Amino acid sequence: MIIVKGRNGNLLKVDGFRLRVYEELNLLPVRMRLKAIEDAGWNTFLLKADDVFLDMLTDSGVNAMSDKQLAAMVSAQDAYAGSRTFYEFTKAVEDVLGMKYVIPVHQGRAAEHVISKVFVKEGYVVPMNYHFTTTKAHIELAGGRIIEIPVKEALDRRSRYSFKGDIDVVKLEEVLRSYKSRVAFVRIEALANLLGGQPVSMRNIREVRELCDKYGVPLVVDGSMIDWNVYFIKEREPGYSSKSLEEIVKEFVGYADILYISARKTSSARGGFIATNNRGYYEKIIVHIPVYEGFLTYGGMSIKEIAAIAVGLREAFKENLIGSELELIKYVTEELDRNGVPVVLPPGGLGVHLDALEFLPHLSRDKYPAGSLTAALYIASGIRAMERGTLSMDRDKDGKEVYPDLELVRIAFPRKTYLRSHADYVVDRVLWLYEHRDLIKGLKWVYEPPILRFFLGRLDDIGDWGESLVKVYESELGVY
Ligand code: F0G
Repeated sequence: MIIVKGRNGNLLKVDGFRLRVYEELNLLPVRMRLKAIEDAGWNTFLLKADDVFLDMLTDSGVNAMSDKQLAAMVSAQDAYAGSRTFYEFTKAVEDVLGMKYVIPVHQGRAAEHVISKVFVKEGYVVPMNYHFTTTKAHIELAGGRIIEIPVKEALDRRSRYSFKGDIDVVKLEEVLRSYKSRVAFVRIEALANLLGGQPVSMRNIREVRELCDKYGVPLVVDGSMIDWNVYFIKEREPGYSSKSLEEIVKEFVGYADILYISARKTSSARGGFIATNNRGYYEKIIVHIPVYEGFLTYGGMSIKEIAAIAVGLREAFKENLIGSELELIKYVTEELDRNGVPVVLPPGGLGVHLDALEFLPHLSRDKYPAGSLTAALYIASGIRAMERGTLSMDRDKDGKEVYPDLELVRIAFPRKTYLRSHADYVVDRVLWLYEHRDLIKGLKWVYEPPILRFFLGRLDDIGDWGESLVKVYESELGVY
């Protein structure tokens, strides 16, 4: 954002870019939206994108790209090995993030796969602020176990604590002391996705670094949304408001032994990478790249995407370019909060997060409140959000449901994609749904996959409530 003083003495935040490419959107009538979600097994992952009005499933691989990124894709040098574009990319990682060894992988979870393969063994633990779905899966597949130790404010959706992504350092020291050499590494996710897009403070990573040094354990940072994390440090953390985002990101990443990034998020292209300054770690990790990803100078990515990532990284921390979607998230979150809708506070990055347990207090958790609300929101608006609750967890070894701390519906705002009128539409339709929340009755399984079940699982609405929702919608709001 370009931040200037307004005529009333207020701060004006103005987007420091303009749009020159657009895509037409299609709003289906509500009855067709019901048909579409039924065909998709009440799972928004299985909807066709053509049936979606506002695609707010994720920020992954769907951020708007810059003119410079697109230009770089044209001049990228295709080569199986030794592409010039790859070296331009490693130079960008070094310039922006200060890390000299760069390992390309096809996306974030591929980084998690190889890091888990190298560091995690049977019986090992990985303490972290909070898990992400794919991270947990890879650590467990390698025989390890995650230990989540966020600060206590993180699980209270009403708390406006500025850095709900912070690790509880007292608990971290207890874990390091009791598990000793069975701690594979400490993991910090910045921003913390499943906590509602909440940031980690510089102070916290510094303290975690000290503990890692004291106990001789590597610190791994998942920086998939580090651009937004750094923005919040500048905005909220004492001592950082006059530092540039470039300086802040370098300091933050400088505390990590290993950094990995889903470049589908920060850097607005499609791919991923691992970066480190530790030659020993680099050599251990690269052994796995030709086996699982591809040759070391493309790692499963298209060279064109590598070119776009390089430019995207250089642009990600420019003050003028960052923050547009964060302002929309803030606006929608505050509007919903003002109207009594349960949302995760304070407004963070990534999206607006509805608390489905409070939104639908009449639904027990085995009826999947967040999944039900996500499907209902699609019917009531054509907005595709993502379930981030019980469905996003898998059952334990005995087949029992594992209920996560938070049962959320995430309405994502990809970078530079939506406008203020879209934000107003989100507010209007969520408020309408909140007024009619009693109509939502829950979901039951039709097909339940054994791992990461939320991606491919199919469900059905208990008691045909989708039909009643559509009838009330049509009588009050019409066909659209
Ligand atoms: N780590 C974090 C914090 C993420 O948010 C994601 C992906 C990954 C790792 C995995 O990266 O998708 O490139 O393999 N998050 C997406 C989301 C899918 O919608 O939040 P990936």
